[in-house]
Amino acid sequence: MKAVIPAAGLGTRFLPATKAVPKELLPVQGLPVIQQVVEEALAVDGVDGVVIVNSHDKPAIERHFAADDELEQTLIGRGKDSLASSVRHASELPVSFVYQDEAKGLGHAVLQAAPQTDEDPFLILLGDYFVPGHDMCRRMKAVSDEHNGASVIAVAAVPADQVSRYGIIAGDCITEGDPEQPGSVWRISGLVEKPAPEDAPSHLFIVGRYLLSPRIMDLLATQGPGAGNEIQLTDAMVRLLESEEMYALVVDVDEGRDTGTPAAWAGVCARAALEDPATREAFIEALGGAADLIR
Ligand code: G1P
Repeated sequence: MKAVIPAAGLGTRFLPATKAVPKELLPVQGLPVIQQVVEEALAVDGVDGVVIVNSHDKPAIERHFAADDELEQTLIGRGKDSLASSVRHASELPVSFVYQDEAKGLGHAVLQAAPQTDEDPFLILLGDYFVPGHDMCRRMKAVSDEHNGASVIAVAAVPADQVSRYGIIAGDCITEGDPEQPGSVWRISGLVEKPAPEDAPSHLFIVGRYLLSPRIMDLLATQGPGAGNEIQLTDAMVRLLESEEMYALVVDVDEGRDTGTPAAWAGVCARAALEDPATREAFIEALGGAADLIR
């Protein structure tokens, strides 16, 4: 099974930093965000490769995952073997690249990976969000296995005034207990991309982890533009519902880390530095007077 990571965006929210450095390479604890997402994908049983949908304007992403023997040898020569092995590790990950050079939307980005997904079910992991525990996609796969290999997406509750930022699901909860509680499973009957609050069929939004039937690729190939005049993955999923069942697993968004805006990314970096015993004290010291804010 392949995992697809769309990464062709311009990173406008992070300009001017992202003029030369792709936002996917912004680090959290020394590791680029996209590598965190790649490792999350490869932790799922059965995933044997990751397809990154890049743009030709961002060759630095490929460089990060390419071998660099000279750098490795220099590091080894200086006795920095563990740094050398972390550099080598990135180049040994089974990552391949396809390209989306026009900003035509998430659905169009995913479609570029069609030749690589082998007509099998595949994962999509949106790269602004990573799950340090690596467990969310595994639980989605378990739900899919319980329902004859059906498509499964991760969703989470969102306040009513924020529904218009996301894809929102309609459907029925098929498990016991609070339907919006993490662990609940819904059979999806509809989806709508970025609805007005009064049109939202639920408060459950698509968080950016999808396990989809390969038929979505055929549907994307004929999908017209939708919200924002872009080819929306959500719209192709609505058409998939006409012929296949689809389920949603409710998750706790806090299981993952959102790096989509400068403030969110800064928060994720701070949290990671505090959570890692190797950096916690040095980070608190670096905060100077602001350290009182977290003590
Ligand atoms: C995309 C999807 C949307 C989903 C969101 C999660 O929107 O189209 O359904 O809820 O990611 O981040 P975007 O953020 O690209 O506008």
